[in-house]
Amino acid sequence: MEPTGDLLTALDAVLGDTSGAELQRLAARLTAAYRGDALPGEVLDSPAAARAYAAYRMPATSAAVRAALQATFGPAPGAEGDGGWRAPRTLLDVGGGTGGALWAAAAVLPGLTAATVLDRSQDALALGRELAARGPAGPVRDATFTPGRIGAELPAADLVTMAYVLAELPPDARRGLVGAVRADTVVVVEPGTPAGHRRVLEARAVLVGRGFRVVAPCPHDLGCPLDVPGDWCHFAARLPRSSRHRQAKGGTLGWEDEKFSYVAATRGPAGPGPGRIVRHPYLRKGLVELTVCDRPPGISRRTVSKRQGTTYRAARDAGWGDPWPPED
Ligand SMILES: C[S@@+](CC[C@H](N)C(=O)[O-])C[C@H]1O[C@@H](n2cnc3c(N)ncnc32)[C@H](O)[C@@H]1O
Repeated sequence: MEPTGDLLTALDAVLGDTSGAELQRLAARLTAAYRGDALPGEVLDSPAAARAYAAYRMPATSAAVRAALQATFGPAPGAEGDGGWRAPRTLLDVGGGTGGALWAAAAVLPGLTAATVLDRSQDALALGRELAARGPAGPVRDATFTPGRIGAELPAADLVTMAYVLAELPPDARRGLVGAVRADTVVVVEPGTPAGHRRVLEARAVLVGRGFRVVAPCPHDLGCPLDVPGDWCHFAARLPRSSRHRQAKGGTLGWEDEKFSYVAATRGPAGPGPGRIVRHPYLRKGLVELTVCDRPPGISRRTVSKRQGTTYRAARDAGWGDPWPPED
């Protein structure tokens, strides 16, 4: 489960005086705006809408970005000063809203020293600032929240994240944004739906066309074998729900799974990535069945039996979204 504890604590403190009924009403409005394929328009257009977004969506979007960053930079990303693409020092989060990706990046990247969250919604930025002031010392607390519109020139950064934002842009603006980013590494995260996956593939094509190499989740830069009718590449990040989060969602479970699609690409000296488990592993007595996306582009089923010793133990411990074969 993604440990989003610091963020949930800050949300509880900042949203403490919003009633559960009010959050549910506002969250229902957000759901209506984001449902379907139509562009949602300007959704975070009031302090109340920003608060509902933070209660209802921010922990989940942050957990999805965190999982994508972990897959991109590895369990032990480079430390500050090693200078490689795996140790970004500066972050620009485009369409960053209340700052979910900022919290995720700070948790995953120990070398991060400076971060900027750019968004058109003053209300989302104001709430993002308020939350970040209660965050851990370092890039979260020191982050800059900047008003800005996608389409204007973007500042350069080692790492650029774009989470759940392409869905809000028309196709030309989506391609224009990905084409204009100035970064060593770009991570795009979208909802784990067929439409979200299509937007991720579109961004991936633009990045590859600009000379970036795909680092995750794909083990290659070629065509996606899951780009077929009725299928799509997506993963899940499990996160705990606070009581406020449960109120906003009108749910009772203590956790939720956020489904997401993503792509990470870099200009740095990255080799081709490992294969990746693209479905929940299926465990049977003495056997683990894995569905793996691998090179050359293709999906294959691997059955690992108990007789395979170490490989079996690795398969038993492996999860949806993990690399396969396991990295050393
Ligand atoms: C669904 S929210 C995602 C927020 C955040 N990235 C996250 O993952 O929680 C989409 C964000 O994109 C911003 N946005 C949409 N179109 C924009 C534009 N043209 N310029 C700047 N921000 C934009 C919205 O204001 C909103 O904060």
